Parts: sequence; structure tokens; C-alpha cells
Amino acid sequence: AQHIDELAKYLDPSRDLLLTYNGVRTLMSRYLLKRLDGTFFETPQYLWMRTAMGVAYAELKYGGDPITWSRRFYDLMSQLKLMPNSPTLYNAMTRLGQLSACFVVPIDDCLSRESDTNREDPECNFGIMDALRLAALIFQSGGGVGYNFGKLRPEGDIVRSTTGIASGPLSFMKLFDTLVDTIKQGGKRRGAQMGMLFWWHPDIERFITSKSGELKDVQLQNFNISVAIDDYFMQKALKGEDVYLVNPRECPCLYKTWGEEFVKCYEGCVEAIKAGKIRIWRRINAKELWDKIVKSAWDSGDPGLWNRDLANYINNEKLPGEVINATNPCSEESLYDFESCNLGSINLVKYVYDGRIDWDSLARDVQLAVRFLDDVIDVNKLPHDRLRKRVLETRRIGLGTNGLADTLIALGLRYDSPQALAVSNELASFIARMAVRASIELAREKGAYPAYKHGDWAEGVLPWTKHRERLEKFSSTVDKNSVEEYLKVLDAGYNDPRVRSVIDGATAVLRGYRALDGELSIDVSTIGIRNGSIMSIAPEGSRSLIAGVNSSIEPLFAIAYIRNLSIGKLIEYNYTALRLLMVTKTLDGVTRRFVEEYGILPRDHPLANLLRTAHEIHWKWHVYMQVTWAKWNDSGVSKTINMPSDTPIEDVEQAYRLAWLLNAFGITVYRDKSKSVQVIYTGVKS
Ligand code: CDP
Repeated sequence: AQHIDELAKYLDPSRDLLLTYNGVRTLMSRYLLKRLDGTFFETPQYLWMRTAMGVAYAELKYGGDPITWSRRFYDLMSQLKLMPNSPTLYNAMTRLGQLSACFVVPIDDCLSRESDTNREDPECNFGIMDALRLAALIFQSGGGVGYNFGKLRPEGDIVRSTTGIASGPLSFMKLFDTLVDTIKQGGKRRGAQMGMLFWWHPDIERFITSKSGELKDVQLQNFNISVAIDDYFMQKALKGEDVYLVNPRECPCLYKTWGEEFVKCYEGCVEAIKAGKIRIWRRINAKELWDKIVKSAWDSGDPGLWNRDLANYINNEKLPGEVINATNPCSEESLYDFESCNLGSINLVKYVYDGRIDWDSLARDVQLAVRFLDDVIDVNKLPHDRLRKRVLETRRIGLGTNGLADTLIALGLRYDSPQALAVSNELASFIARMAVRASIELAREKGAYPAYKHGDWAEGVLPWTKHRERLEKFSSTVDKNSVEEYLKVLDAGYNDPRVRSVIDGATAVLRGYRALDGELSIDVSTIGIRNGSIMSIAPEGSRSLIAGVNSSIEPLFAIAYIRNLSIGKLIEYNYTALRLLMVTKTLDGVTRRFVEEYGILPRDHPLANLLRTAHEIHWKWHVYMQVTWAKWNDSGVSKTINMPSDTPIEDVEQAYRLAWLLNAFGITVYRDKSKSVQVIYTGVKS
């Protein structure tokens, strides 16, 4: 009780003033705890402290002082510098206590293993109904779920036990879709889901068009869908060669391997098909399949792509005998079965002063954020043994960023410029290196994650050196020009004196913490590391609202816009842009009316370039920005490549190809107004 008093005195109500109106509205609608009669139990400062205490409790286990850590975590959150993912804020110190934003749940090709213990099928460890039940429990606790439906036998295949006919992955996806309609997440928000399918699955064509054309706005509305591609498929598609679709039931090695081993397995299956040993489902030109994907994505935004080879290659955890087959709902985390995302984001805006970045404070706060996320793992209450076991085995965290667009504006750099790319590259690399340093120090103090000895970390390999190697050794051989063009743009940014003054001091700070590559590589292989994976760029949907900044690494969506959320219709202005317009006295009546109508500045406005918005920025710059952050990431980057509604289909094709080539973990495009209902609309007059 004495400690609680002490912490209560530490609360600083003046920090409530850091919140914007929409930030307060968001907190009140879902985050602040309420009594049964609906009255509030806490204020924003209580929320930060409750979360801080709940998480710092983990320190007790290691003989640490939870009070000191509570204060430090509180300071970080209450100053809006660190935003943990929503379930951490919802559930810290509550009975539910589930703190992760998302999970990947496997679906084996059987109905149930958990309730059919007599079953002796080695391919059945977690059946469809087991996954459905677990998904329900996860939604109840506020998390989202990603699945790969590709282990399920195709529609029309045999079912031996009943001598019936299988209904295929799509029909089972509908079951999960209905589940979400029924269970609202934690009573707070609707469950987010990712449904994936391998490109080689016999039902892939139906999957690709399952949310487009006539089915747009109708089917699978509680799913994002993505095709799991790999380098083998991409090369076949570029060359326009034929591929065979294969039944996973007859070739299970397909989902148990990646990279060269996968190619060996696939070619073996094709031999078996040609020899008539297993059934031919379909032979199809890979380019036709690719065009189908692109056409659907152009039409409705779905499916996205996820590069399974890249995700498995970059991932440093490497669990023996296991393959990463899916991502979480918004694809910022490529996860092993039963792993979870424990996300937190650093608000970059808080580290800009007078056109410079305060690298010292950023370094300190990144370390604290890593400790916070690592503590989350120890106090997290997960709804299933399999989740508990896996999460403690890999101790994966996902540190990301928020407010990049505001930060670039504050530095006077337009988003679609070489300078902005160079500064982003510097920020991303700095944060990644400091985060790895922090996790090494935690390993020294509390021990490495249990599966450490199997991973690439133990060999001193850093994820970003793998990104570079792949770009140089693989992508350059496929399309040298595109790779060189991107690298040239980045170089041009670094050569600008303005950029050099912004990044001045960053290397010295890293050196001070022994966080340059050589030192990190030695230390990670000798001391160990606390967390199997570390970085992740999430969409920051609600958290950017709470922090009052533009979300994640996205450009301004618009200067004025309407956001339709379940909590109501929010009319929003980007504060950084608005402030700048006021300070420079360039918001006259005509400009204001233009902004309210279209959400953007008139072309001839003096700030029109600096304040460019998502649809004014060419898709290539969106992709460049995404891959720049991906380079320093070991799990995934969630970003929407926003395109104007009149974008031709060829642009989507090029964007998808470029993303694969430049090492994006995945890609999602969205053409404005391509669906009948979208969350955000530009302008505030509609
Ligand atoms: O809401 P918050 O800002 O904390 O999260 P986000 O960065 O927008 O999303 C992070 C992850 O949370 C997503 O990738 C989803 O897996 C999950 N999520 C969810 O399950 N349900 C939602 N309605 C929104 C996000």
C-alpha cells in the first residue's frame, strides 16, 4: 500500500494536456476502465500508471525493483513517447490480463485433434475446430489472428473417414468469418483476421478472387487476405512458365520447407504428378496466376502478397523443424505457429528539436521500450497452453515507430524525397541497432531466450546484413536496374548537407553504447539476446490517435479528413500541418475552403510540396519508404500503398513486383474508393 501511495503521488495530471481532443475521445471510448454502471474508474494518468505497474511487476521475478521501473515506464507512456499495443492498455492489471495484439494459429487438415485424442495422424496436431475455438478465446481477449488455410485439402478432394467430399479452405474461411461477426473482440473492437493461402494450392484461383468483382463488399469481410508467394513462383511468373497446383494432403513437405528445400520438395511433387502417382489438379501459367492476383488487388485491395521465403530467411529465431507460414492480421509480424505480437511504438515526433534529432534521448528510450516489451511477455496471461509455451520460448517483441510524417515535416523534408528516405534509413537503423543492444543487455541480466542456440543470432548474424546480402546477391541478378535506382536515390539523400546535419551525432551515440555492427555481432554470439525477434512496423490505427500523430510510417493521409470508426465519426486535421499553416500565415479563406473540400492544399500553395498527402505521392515512393524500414526489420512492415482511384492496373503490377524485388516482407495496395465503404475519406465535407 505504501508503494501504491508513492506511485500515486508520482502521477502528473498536467500531462493530460498533451492529449488531443480525439486522443481523449479514443481513450474514453475504449481504454479507460469503467465501472459496471458505465462511469469512469480512471483518468488517462491512471491508465498509464496502471499499465506501467502491471508490466513492471515482471521485474520482481528477476529481483528487480518494480516501483522504479513503474515510474520509468509511466514517464515514457504519459509523455506519449511509447505506445504499447491496445490490448496491453486495455488489459494490464485486469482479470483478463491478455496483453498481445495478435497471434498466428495453425490449421491442420483435420477437424479436431484436441477433442479426438485417439487420432494417430501425424499431420493432425491442431485441427480446424481447435483453431476456431482458440480464435474465439483470442478475440474475447482483444487480439487478432492470422492463419494459413493452405494445409487444408482442396475442394472436391476425398474425405476417407466419411467417404465424402472435402469442402476446401474457402468454405472453412467462411466459418471463421462468421465467428468474428458473432464475437466482438474483448467487447471493445471487432476481430481482425488474416487469411493466407500458398500460391501452389489447388483452390488458389478462387481464393484470389474471393473478395473481388461481385464478391467485393460481400464475402469474407472480416478477413484481410494474402497470397503466400516465394522466389520460385516469382521467377516462374516473370518468365511466364507453367506451374502445377498441388494438393497439400499428397505433398505435406510443401508447407514444412522454404527456400531451396521447398524447391526440391515441389519439384519432387511435380515429378510424382507427371508419373501419374498423384492427381493433377491444374497446370497453369504462373504469369496468368500473377495477373489474376494483380487484377483483384487493383479491383478491391485484396489479396496482398506475403513473401514467405524472405520472412523465413530474415527471421533469426529459426526453430528446428518449423517454418513460418503466416502473418498476423495487418502483416507486421511473420510468426511461427502460436507466436504472438507484443507491439510498442516510439513516437518519433518527441525526438525532434530545432530541425535536429536528439539521438541521445532516442537511444535511452529505445532501451527502456525494449525492456518494457520484454516484461510484457512475463506478465501476459494467454488463453492456451500452446501459446504460453511458444511465447516464452521465443520471447518475440515488436518495436515500431509512429509519427514519421510529422517528423519529416518538422525537419522540413517532403515525404517523397531522397532526403526523407535517407533520414528514415538512419532512424530505422539507429532504432534497430539500439534495440538489439538493449536486448543483448537484457540477456546479460536475465538470460537469453530459451531457443537462442538454434537461431542465427548465436552465429553473430544480424538481420539487416541478410537484407543487404539478398539485395546484392539475389535481387540484383533478377533486375539490376531497379535495385540500383533505389540505392542511388538513397545515396543522393545522404549526400545532401541538410540530411548530414540531421543525422550528425547518431553514429557517435551508437559507438558510445557499443551498438555498431561489429560489436553487436560479437556480443550477440557470446552473451546472447533476450528476444528472438525485435522490430515490427504496425499500422498504429488507434495508437496514433491517442498519441495525436500521423500513423506509423505513412505519409499524411490528408490535411483534413473524416474517419468512420466504431466509436463514431471523427473529423480530423493533421496538427503538424495545421500548425505550420498558421505559423506561416498561409491559411487564407480560399485555402481553407479548398482543404476542407479536398483534404489537400492547392497545387500553387507555398507548402504544397512539404505537405503532400498519400494520393499525391507516387506509389514508387510509398514502396521505397516501406522497403527502407523493412531493411532494418526482422518480422514485417505493415503499410498501405495508397493510390488514386484512376490508377491503371499496370501500376499495381509494377508496385507488387518492385516490393518483392526490394525485399518488402509483403505488400498491400489500396486504390481510393475501390470499396463501397472505407475507413478514411479525404476532406471534411462528405
Ligand atoms: O489499435 P492499435 O493502434 O493498438 O493497433 P494497430 O497497430 O493498428 O494494429 C496492431 C495489430 O492489432 C493488428 O495487426 C491486428 O493484428 C491487431 N488488431 C486487431 O486484432 N483488431 C483490431 N480491430 C485492430 C488491430
